[in-house]
Order: sequence, then structure tokens, then C-alpha cells
Amino acid sequence: TTSGASASAVEKGNYRHFMQKEIFEQPTVVAQTLRSYVHQANNTVALPQMDFDLSTIRRVTIVACGTSYYAGLVAKYWFEHFARVPVDIDVASEFRYRDPVLEEGGLALFISQSGETADTLAALRHCKAAGQTIGVVVNVPTSSMAREADLLLPTHAGPEIGVASTKAFTCQLAVLAALAAHLAVKKGRMDRAEEQEVVKHLLEAPAALNAALDHDEDIASMAHLIAPARDVLYLGRGPDYPLALEGALKLKEISYIHAEGYASGEMKHGPIALIDEAVPVIVLAPSGPLFEKTVSNMQEVRARGGKIVLISDAEGLLEAGEGCLATIQMPKVHPLIAPLVYAVPVQLLAYHTACVKGTDVDQPRNLAKSVTVE
Ligand code: G6P
Repeated sequence: TTSGASASAVEKGNYRHFMQKEIFEQPTVVAQTLRSYVHQANNTVALPQMDFDLSTIRRVTIVACGTSYYAGLVAKYWFEHFARVPVDIDVASEFRYRDPVLEEGGLALFISQSGETADTLAALRHCKAAGQTIGVVVNVPTSSMAREADLLLPTHAGPEIGVASTKAFTCQLAVLAALAAHLAVKKGRMDRAEEQEVVKHLLEAPAALNAALDHDEDIASMAHLIAPARDVLYLGRGPDYPLALEGALKLKEISYIHAEGYASGEMKHGPIALIDEAVPVIVLAPSGPLFEKTVSNMQEVRARGGKIVLISDAEGLLEAGEGCLATIQMPKVHPLIAPLVYAVPVQLLAYHTACVKGTDVDQPRNLAKSVTVE
């Protein structure tokens, strides 16, 4: 492993698995990460010193692998929405081979827990050679990517031992949200009051993550309903769509159940053909502007006999929870932090399902913590 610490140096404490411990550490490590990205005195974003002018950035190109790539997909919504800067995003193994257009004024942003993933590192070097400004969001500050960056944005998740990434992901999201707001300010797209509003919502994340973790036992009992499935679908919309992808990835990685994440609106273009009572459909739908549309996609599933697990807040569950196989209640949060908060139930669902199946949660078959081959 190149996660920065060996499993022997980090203790599991009272937890059964490192992954479980790391899921539960999220309120603390997200708060810790945010502390270094916020000016406490006036609730504005604080970024490390940089020797280039962020206001000249005309395009952001995000490259990453696995769970870190999904953090990038969420960030694309934020960069475009807040800063109105176009974002190009790709998995690292595809990026270099498609001859990407890298123009002047481009910030190439690499997201990685380890800072050593071979494909991501190669993409970084490719962008550097092409004259892009290099930003990295990494959890290991001594890593190769950290050393080669123009702008180093560390996450402070602490050593992550479980092969399936959890706390690094939510910390990446915290950093990326801060960066999006800062870019928006530099671009003249966000005033001081709006920036403070964004920071205020980000600072609400640790408590909301705690509230999400309170549902651990409900999720543990629900895992018995998911464990017998051969296939599971995850649906989400907008910035919560990447969470559907992440939920499916987590389930595949540690419970070996085939799972797919889909944008809820895309269901009718194919995956709905898979729906029957044997395929649980996990719907991520915080109440808010995208709720009604997501719920109507959910009803299409139900009309075909699909069994639904709805993850929403009290308001959403009241409106659409009836007739579901199960529901998981999340705290009501601002849409900005929903992707952080909804990471918890998808992580816990995968974790408990794997426990029911008796798989090796921390060291899943065929997977490595850090993939240093291309
Ligand atoms: C491996 C791990 C994943 C991780 C991915 C990217 O596949 O098993 O959990 O998301 O690598 O790793 P990175 O260190 O670049 O974030």
C-alpha cells in the first residue's frame, strides 16, 4: 500500500473493520479538512498560496480513477454552477489516449487518495508537458502527485486503510466545494455574502454526517434484504447522480454483487428492462429542486414491480416513502452538501451487505488500495 501508513501502524479500535472505522471518522475528518479551507474569522474560503492567478483560468479538466473520479463528477456541477467555468472530466486511463484539447488558461485537476495511481499520475505528466496549470487534491501529502503540483490541495482524512475508499471521498468533496466557491469569487461570479453562505453550508456537513451515521443500525438490518440480490440498481439525479455510481461501485467492490448506477432520467432508455422483483433499486433523492423528477422515475420502477429502497429526508419520505421495500432517513440538508451526506448510507449499505455475505471487507478479492500499474 502507498496510503501513507501501514495497517499495523493504525489501529481498528472498537471497530470490526478499517472500512467501518473510516466511515465513522467522516464527521471528524471532514471538519478537520474544512478547518484548513475556511477563514474562521469571516467564513470565507481559504486556499493555499498559489503563484498563478486563478481568475485567468478558462477551463478545468478533471482526471481521476475510481471513487476519486466520482468526486470529480460531483465537482463538475459545482464548478459550472458557481464559477461558470466549463469542465471536462474523464477517467485517467481514457484521458491520455483520446488526444484531449488542452488550451491556454487551463487548470488540470487531479484527484487521488494515494497520489500514486499510475494512470492519474501519467495523465498529470501529460498535462504538465502540455503547459496546463496542475492542481491536485490528494490525501497523501508526500505522494508523487503532491510533489508535481502547482497547486496542492490536501485532504486531511488521515491514513485510509480499507481498500474501498470512503472518508477520502467526502474530504475530497469538501475541498472541491471550497475550490469551486473560491474560483467563483475570483471569476466575479460570487459575492462575499454568497461565499459566506456556501461556507456556512459546508460547515454544516460534519453534524449532518453524524446524523446520517445515526441510521447505521437500520441500514445493517436492511442489508439482509440486499444480500440475496444478484443485481442492484442505484439511481440519482444532478449532483447526486455520481453518488449512485459510487453506491454501485462500493457494493461491487466489497460484496461482489453486480450493481449499476444510473442517472434516474436515463432509466427508461434501457435499464428499466431489467426491473423485476428480484432487482432492488436504491433511489437517492434528497427533497429539493430535483426531487419530483426523481420520484416520477422511481414510480416507473414501481409500476413494473421493482422493489425500491428510498434514501431521502423526512419530507421526501413522507411524500414518496409509501410502498417502498425500505427507506433510509437522512437529515434535511442544503443541496450543496447532499453528496457528502448521502455518501454515508451508500457506504454503510455496501459495508453491511458485505458483512452479511461474509466477504473480506478491508481486502476485497482482486483489488488493491493503490493501483501503480497502467
Ligand atoms: C483503487 C482503490 C479505489 C480508489 C482508486 C483510485 O481502485 O481500490 O478505492 O478509488 O484506486 O485511487 P486514488 O488513490 O487515485 O484515489
